[in-house]
Amino acid sequence: MSEVTKNTKLWGGRFDESTSSDVEAFTESVSYDKNLYTQDIRGSKAHSEMLAKCGILSEKDMTDIHEGLDKILAEIEQGTFIWKPELEDVHMNIESRLTELVGDAGKKLHTARSRNDQVATDFRLFVAEAMTKWRTLCLEFIAVLLERAQKEVNTLLPGYTHMQPAQPVSLAQHMMAYAWMLKRDIERIDDALKRVLISPLGAAALAGTTYNINPEFSAERLGFAGEFDNSMDAVSDRDFAIEALSAGSIIMMHLSRFCEEIIIWSSPAFGFIRLSDAHSTGSSIMPQKRNPDLAELVRGKTGRVYGSLQQMLVMMKGLPLAYNRDMQEDKESFFDADRTVANSLSMMAAMIENCAFNRERMSMALKAGFLNATELADYLAAKGIPFREAHKITGHAVAYAEKAGKALEELSLEDLQSIEPSIQEDVFEVLDYEAAVNRRNSKGGVGRVSLFRQFEDMKKFVRESEGK
Ligand code: ARG
Repeated sequence: MSEVTKNTKLWGGRFDESTSSDVEAFTESVSYDKNLYTQDIRGSKAHSEMLAKCGILSEKDMTDIHEGLDKILAEIEQGTFIWKPELEDVHMNIESRLTELVGDAGKKLHTARSRNDQVATDFRLFVAEAMTKWRTLCLEFIAVLLERAQKEVNTLLPGYTHMQPAQPVSLAQHMMAYAWMLKRDIERIDDALKRVLISPLGAAALAGTTYNINPEFSAERLGFAGEFDNSMDAVSDRDFAIEALSAGSIIMMHLSRFCEEIIIWSSPAFGFIRLSDAHSTGSSIMPQKRNPDLAELVRGKTGRVYGSLQQMLVMMKGLPLAYNRDMQEDKESFFDADRTVANSLSMMAAMIENCAFNRERMSMALKAGFLNATELADYLAAKGIPFREAHKITGHAVAYAEKAGKALEELSLEDLQSIEPSIQEDVFEVLDYEAAVNRRNSKGGVGRVSLFRQFEDMKKFVRESEGK
């Protein structure tokens, strides 16, 4: 099973025997945390620069370290770097190679640092970059929604509650609803970033260091907004990743709802939307089918991101201060969630950018669903009939029309007057769907005026967010 040889690890000084190979395989993280190599190299550069600035490391050693790290970066990117699982993780793989390349200077890099503050630094940088990418993708998706919404102001379809046709709405309003969700997703990212971008570098293993270091300097060099206040907290919390996964989960929840809508709309029973060939798939057995697999997969993958959030919360809940090896488990699920959120956002944006809306089917659904019934009730109420009474009369009118196989606006004035004598010729203006929609210009309403206001406000948000 396990083979025992002399311990040659970077931390092997106090050990006589080497780690067994199955333990090594179980504990290693380099197979996935090598993903953090750019952050690790940047972190080490900033750290050594800080050490030199504080007179802890000579300028020459610092320059050697930087040159060595640049070489390592090139090796990794060219695929010639040899990753060794026996060196456990990305940090020790890089440090060990650095020492091979530059000798003693490499061994000095870890002065006033521990892998505990090092990994927390790398991971915070990675999480911040992931969130910044999600943010850009959210903005791009908003741009697609704005673009499509502005062309569909006059496209009317049933708005639903309880999945029952409720009132006519503009397709633009429907698209914009998702844009507003994504705006909040961006705001959540921006808010969380304030806490993600706090440097733990200089906290060392858990207690700080006897060296006269300058954590503010390394924090600034790495683009952090500030540095830690408490060394034990700095190395041992992963709340920043939990916040990121929470923001990511909410993004996925929004995307998944949109997907559900797209799936329903692309069913022939609705026929409101036709996904482009590039964004739908066929069935291997039923030739007539056009399946919205992409939307289904985004909906399905939402579970992975929720899973990552849950995994991280549970992983952390029992951990005493300070660093515990459990925390090595923070990475793989975050990487998976990151890929899932980013890919889902870009897939969805492309799917919406290229889909075709079927305006005719939407308009047919309006008529079939008596979506102007509320208008008739409001019309009667405006004539002084108490609303509850007006509601009941309208119910009779709907039942009458349904029996006659007609829409409300297709009934004759005589028909309508047989139900309620006070109904006049002007009722037909009221029953007009477009008029119904465009009367609703209250704040955030479906009317044209409200929609143009929404477009302007959203464009302003996009403009202001792009520069940030
Ligand atoms: N691979 C470790 C992790 O990802 C790095 C930190 C290890 N620290 C330690 N004291 N063993 O968490």
